[in-house]
Amino acid sequence: MSLLEVRNLTISFATSHTPLKVVNKIIFDIEEAMVFGLVGESGCGKSLTALALMGLLPENSSAGGSIVFKGVDLLSLKERSMQSLRGKEIAMIFQEPMTSLNPVLTIGCQIAEVLTTHEGLSRRAAMDKAVELLRTVKIPSPEIRVKEYPHQMSGGMRQRVMIAIAIACKPSLLIADEPTTALDVTIQSQILTLLQGLKEEMGMSLLLITHDLGIISENANRAAIMYAGRLMELADVKELFSNPRNPYTLGLLESIPRERGVPLTPIPGIVPRPDELPPGCTFSDRCRFVRDYCREKEPELEAISRGHLTRCYRAKEFR
Ligand SMILES: Nc1ncnc2c1ncn2[C@@H]1O[C@H](COP(=O)(O)OP(=O)(O)OP(=O)(O)O)[C@@H](O)[C@H]1O
Ligand SMILES: [Mg+2]
Repeated sequence: MSLLEVRNLTISFATSHTPLKVVNKIIFDIEEAMVFGLVGESGCGKSLTALALMGLLPENSSAGGSIVFKGVDLLSLKERSMQSLRGKEIAMIFQEPMTSLNPVLTIGCQIAEVLTTHEGLSRRAAMDKAVELLRTVKIPSPEIRVKEYPHQMSGGMRQRVMIAIAIACKPSLLIADEPTTALDVTIQSQILTLLQGLKEEMGMSLLLITHDLGIISENANRAAIMYAGRLMELADVKELFSNPRNPYTLGLLESIPRERGVPLTPIPGIVPRPDELPPGCTFSDRCRFVRDYCREKEPELEAISRGHLTRCYRAKEFR
């Protein structure tokens, strides 16, 4: 049994007409102590997938399928049980670190709060543990910084605080939603190194969400490529990079920044809105391998080899 088994996860928003599906039958497994990457351009449903795992979907949305964590389907849990799991067993670093911290509370208070709620620590013990956690995430002079407010810290330091809060209860699964997007390149790699180190030390699994396949190549063991709410390809990272079998993955690979001065080849066009998907394959409008039949019926997600799935009629021919 895997730590997490996501099966046919579908997320819809209530609209005045028919429900609007924004995530459509996503499947993936996360094993213990692995880094799993969820990749795709803006708007493809990565954050909503993560929020579904946390039981934090917006009010006007609903989820179908199943999310089995340690043998329990989270979608069938009552909010109360989900509350005791959230932050303790599954924790998340949210996409906007600047807005996720409370500006009027010291960072020490914010870390301590998780520990008093979930671990039943006294306030005093929780504050001591907060200092220790700041040290774990490599914040210099933690005894001093624990008393500071978020605005007194740089973006990279705030992200470290977010990580400290997320790992406070030693979760089995840590979700990091674009943890480095707002940061400059040097800080980016420091944060990713920190996350890797924590994963090793604590034996947790990491769900790493990013639009950047470059980050995946260096940090993840296995990855899912999402497009317009669909899973387009799912494979081990080595296989994905050496043997991509979906034109969307190829497009993302070609748009990874390489050396300075080497021009990138971005994928032409933009992700269609969920209510304006083209007929047939959702990527057909932007695909350079498209055939007429691709525009008629959407291809299914199919295994091309063991552990490697792709959604493309031409998966065996192109390259
Ligand atoms: N509260 C909401 N109401 C209606 N539609 C929403 C809501 N939140 C998200 N969506 C839509 O769901 C789709 C997926 O959104 P999501 O935030 O999961 O994308 P994402 O892959 O995380 O993108 P990004 O890379 O920009 O963070 C988008 O088309 C978005 O417009
Ligand atoms: Mg997002």
